[in-house]
Amino acid sequence: MVITETRLTPAVESEVIRLHGIDYVELYVGNAYHAAHFYRTMFGFQPVACSGLETGDRDRASFVMRQGNIRLVLTSAISPESAVAAHVSLHGDGVKDIAFRVDDASAAFDTAVRRGAVPVLEPSVSEDGDGRVTKATIAACGQTVHSFVTREGANSLFFPHYRPATNSRPAGAPGLTEIDHVAISVEAGALDRWVEFYECVLGFHRSHEEDISTEHSAMISKVVQSRDGQIKFPMMEPAPGRRKSQIDEYLTFHRGPGVQHLAFLSDNIGHTAGILRENGVEFLSTPAAYYSMLEARVGGLGEELQSLQSLGLLVDRDEWGYLKQVFTRPVQSRPTLFVEIIERVGARGFGAGNIKALFEAVEREQAMRGNL
Ligand code: FE2
Repeated sequence: MVITETRLTPAVESEVIRLHGIDYVELYVGNAYHAAHFYRTMFGFQPVACSGLETGDRDRASFVMRQGNIRLVLTSAISPESAVAAHVSLHGDGVKDIAFRVDDASAAFDTAVRRGAVPVLEPSVSEDGDGRVTKATIAACGQTVHSFVTREGANSLFFPHYRPATNSRPAGAPGLTEIDHVAISVEAGALDRWVEFYECVLGFHRSHEEDISTEHSAMISKVVQSRDGQIKFPMMEPAPGRRKSQIDEYLTFHRGPGVQHLAFLSDNIGHTAGILRENGVEFLSTPAAYYSMLEARVGGLGEELQSLQSLGLLVDRDEWGYLKQVFTRPVQSRPTLFVEIIERVGARGFGAGNIKALFEAVEREQAMRGNL
């Protein structure tokens, strides 16, 4: 989608689309059945519903996975003509749709399109005896989209034609509670246009801005948030550096802009990271030097320092409090999408102080792949 050719109209206060959080994040993947197993056994998501040939879908199959208030939808093609097949062929496994819960999906869609969003799916209604769901979709960066979803009635199984998942046995419960933020990588020079898109079309506001550089590479980051702060999108573009940044690597292997990481909130990241490690989730390693510098940067940690280091957790502080976070290695063969686990103790930032440490950790792995 080229938004420079689109006229964006600033959001008028009386016309702001009220978003009630993220309804679901849909990933297009090579094999939804395998991906469901991966997100269940590695990350503790519970399969709750599915669709496919049995439910009348001839072109795609989906698994709906839940944990806390997080809903992931894993979708793969079941015919080569499916648009899902073409998407996965080009981009690999990754996020297709970040869907918002709204009071009136049709009205939200009309407002967004009037303000310059590109329509992808006109409002469509699906219903059964238990309830009714209205969905409409607009284009976002690259080939990602945003759907507006309105749910009426008691249907608890995602969309009306879905059936309960048969293997719904959850794996160990790592305690992921919410989607904290969704980070998006865009091409060099595109960042301001996308900030403007979220401000004008969806009424988001800008909350943070960072220029981050390491010895090897650099990036510019800006964060947009929904009015109530429930939905947060840190967006990053590469800045000129001596070598390829992790944003460049993402853009190369994803073949364009898209979602770089999903950050899940935990109330107890030590517990969560311990279980995920036991499940086989691989986290980025953090240089030992990071921990010897940590207390000077964020204050005294006492005995906790040892456990932070043994779990590889990062700590950052801002004027409101502190946060702990940890990043997985990419969760598919391409070095594109990864997962962040974050615990907030007051902090409202995204770990800018850690990004340099993260960059250095990522760059070590990039060098191993011959992409630095
Ligand atoms: Fe993040």
